[in-house]
Amino acid sequence: MQLAPALRTTAELRFTQHAPTLITRLSQLYATRFADDVQLKNWCLQLMQVMADALQARPAGLQALDQQRSQQPDWFTREDRLGYCAYTDRFAGTLQGVIQRIPHLQQLGVTYLHLLPFLKARAGENDGGFAVSDFNQVEATLGSMQDLEQLTQALRESGISLCSDFILNHVADDHPWAIAARAGDAKYRDYFYHYPDRTVPDQFEATLGQVFPQVAPGNFSYIDALQSWVWTTFYPYQWDLNYSNPAVFLDMTAAMLQLANRGIEVFRLDSTAFLWKRPGTTCMNQPEAHWILQCLRCITEITMPGVLLKAEAIVATRDLPAYLGDAQRGVQECHLAYHSSLMAAAWVAVAEQDTSLISAVIAGTPQLPPNTSWLSYVRCHDDIGWNVLRPEASLQATDVEQRLSAVSQFFAGQGDSFASGASFQASDPAAVHGTVGMAAALCGLSRATDAEQSRTAVQRQLLLYGLSFCFGGMPLIYMGDEFAQENNEDYRSVAAHQYDARWLHRPQWNEALATRSQTAGNAAHLCSSGLQRLLQWRRKLPQLQAQAARRLLHTNSSSLLAFSRGEAHAPFVFIGNFSDQPQTVTLSVLAQQLPSAQPSGSAISGCWKTPDGAVPPDILLIPAWSQCWLIASNLSATGVN
Ligand code: GLC
Repeated sequence: MQLAPALRTTAELRFTQHAPTLITRLSQLYATRFADDVQLKNWCLQLMQVMADALQARPAGLQALDQQRSQQPDWFTREDRLGYCAYTDRFAGTLQGVIQRIPHLQQLGVTYLHLLPFLKARAGENDGGFAVSDFNQVEATLGSMQDLEQLTQALRESGISLCSDFILNHVADDHPWAIAARAGDAKYRDYFYHYPDRTVPDQFEATLGQVFPQVAPGNFSYIDALQSWVWTTFYPYQWDLNYSNPAVFLDMTAAMLQLANRGIEVFRLDSTAFLWKRPGTTCMNQPEAHWILQCLRCITEITMPGVLLKAEAIVATRDLPAYLGDAQRGVQECHLAYHSSLMAAAWVAVAEQDTSLISAVIAGTPQLPPNTSWLSYVRCHDDIGWNVLRPEASLQATDVEQRLSAVSQFFAGQGDSFASGASFQASDPAAVHGTVGMAAALCGLSRATDAEQSRTAVQRQLLLYGLSFCFGGMPLIYMGDEFAQENNEDYRSVAAHQYDARWLHRPQWNEALATRSQTAGNAAHLCSSGLQRLLQWRRKLPQLQAQAARRLLHTNSSSLLAFSRGEAHAPFVFIGNFSDQPQTVTLSVLAQQLPSAQPSGSAISGCWKTPDGAVPPDILLIPAWSQCWLIASNLSATGVN
């Protein structure tokens, strides 16, 4: 590696630690792609040079951050960490505009900002920027690379890390690689999966799922210029990259490292589950997809250990933990992963007024590997996908299809539902796919006809957010939710959006609503002040650190969800009532389920406190759609006092 002497020592140390895994995984992935070991070695040397170049070019401020974070590798798992997610244009117009919104983020206590794709995207339809045409340019309407650098610096000075999507599964059909492939360049044709006829695509289709069955059915698109079927998991204009080709891995690694040097601190690795294709499978969660992520992790550990990788893998609970690595086998993968089944199951609890599915998801969620965290969330820019819950739902219902369809129909506002969302990508109204809509609309705010109903809708939303704050991960606020913002119907008249109902929950920043939220007497204020209160408590509770242990607690009501956190400290207990009826819980019974408590009957109730100091009675009434946060202040292994 060509490196300045000052960088050499640190880099060599990190290299010694992570190179063995990197080399093993690279050989597993690519050894068979080279004629001999010499060729493989030369390719590895090219990769090392890409890493050395990135390290050499890394600005001093970012190197200092790398150093600091290597010494504190759990920095992002603390109870005072909070994420916020927004589209740049909808939130603030441009990247420079985002700088002006930093005070709003600081007021919420945000420490991590995920700006949805802002790199140059395909003109016209581009899946909200998820069809990237150039990894080295910012979308012109949003700003420039210089603006990006200024933004990352301003955020960093305010204690906020910028998270950017790194869309690594596919590129836009007008990315230079796709253009070269279309022009007949053999090298770039092999950056994609292309088949002259339907033989292979049909074999794959037999076991593949579909992401957008209604508007983009199938997983292959016929591209005239290539006279081939090209693999397009998502929209026909998003061409899947062929990661079995080592050149793709090399170029994508270089793209990611260069972006990191602009000051991006967290990469949201988009659609990670789809990175490797294998006949006869769903082509999701393949071992090689994990190896690719493990290689990227080793590469960032060596060159920029302050950078975090976050897996976007919308998969069943049992398939999620692997994206965070495996502590027992000494495998490191991503630092963060969306807990999508927890999110979906929480919405099921709202529809069914029953917490059994969410309890099953929590029971199936293992302890996190060290220095990793879930990303816990209520809403995001995508639909709520119900299919990830099939395994848990099938344990509890004979007709899973019917159960999940009922949930989907509930949120589409059918029957006596309070929700006003819509079904996503389901041509057959009884089919299960997803649900779209802002949290407030799904919680009943848009259909509320009086102040009481509005208050109840906000309570539901706060309950869901409360769960995401206490579960054990970095929580994420989706732009607009801090003010209970409702659906945005405008997309129906925008040509590039009207085919994709997810735009229903991608609203513009609403200044009037933000102002209204500062004065009492309306839903926006109820929601914003409620969230602020929960967040203030959260920041004071070390029990809510992502790694702290979690234990499900049994109650006598299927509408209640109760779990404890952080038994190393005075245990914290979350109790949520997912129903429109008040429920009671006996605190002494809950306490008996905690290891440090002694089963000494109702006297134990005196040991519980709410975060603001109130002492609850032993039999506690939890109002409809409410939550209770308790701390067992005097419980200890030696007894109760
Ligand atoms: C991810 C994004 C989603 C996008 C898809 C294809 O799942 O969250 O919005 O449509 O990837 O890039």
